[in-house]
Amino acid sequence: MVYAENSGRASGRLAGLQKSMSEPLSAREPALHAMLRSETAAAHSRLESVLALLDPPLTRERFLTVLQGFWGFHRVWEPLLAERRELAALLTGRSKLAILEHDLEALGMTRAGIEALPLCLEASRLGGSAMRMLGGVYVLEGSTLGGQVIGKALQGAAWVPENGLQYFNPYGARTGAMWRTLRAALDTASAPAADEEIISGAQDSFALLQDWLGGRLSK
Ligand code: HEM
Repeated sequence: MVYAENSGRASGRLAGLQKSMSEPLSAREPALHAMLRSETAAAHSRLESVLALLDPPLTRERFLTVLQGFWGFHRVWEPLLAERRELAALLTGRSKLAILEHDLEALGMTRAGIEALPLCLEASRLGGSAMRMLGGVYVLEGSTLGGQVIGKALQGAAWVPENGLQYFNPYGARTGAMWRTLRAALDTASAPAADEEIISGAQDSFALLQDWLGGRLSK
């Protein structure tokens, strides 16, 4: 599923500018968000393809491997995020570790088994400036939007536990509100130098997830 047309950095900026010139002020999309979407569209499509969560049949094994991979990522990524006091207000209520652990246990894993899972140590490369990390937050929070589609695919799977799996739909009815808060934080952070860092942080996050999750799925 392609959710935005891919384009290079220059054409992405141009498209954003053209859009903003042809629309009334109230309907304008904040330029940073439009750029983030276009600059990561190809990476999103690649990740979507490698996860193949919408390719039937969605097996328990595939979904478990994906969740285990995300646990290994978040276990390294979230402590790094917690060091960034500038992001603390935005990150309140967005941790996915407990949710992942809930899902993994619901799929039959023990606490000890979860703690023994491989860690994505490369995620430490995504640390650094708060702006780069904000790009990563954009990527990980975006998965809750695609999660609405993935949730529907899960509904048809016989192996899904009775109380459901929550990683891709952690916010339920609050999904839209949580995304709007993130968009507002992007608007606030936006400035020419910050935009470059946020976009490169988002691109690096997608690339890292692609390698990490793709590698685990191909074993
Ligand atoms: C098979 C898996 C996936 C599918 C089918 C999927 C599908 C989608 C869809 C349909 C949207 C647009 C939602 C909307 O505009 O309301 C979306 C947005 C997004 N997804 Fe995914 N997604 C998947 C996996 C992921 C993953 C694993 C990540 C990151 C870890 C991710 C990151 C994003 C981001 C950042 C956006 C927001 C784009 C924007 O700025 O509007 N997606 N996804």
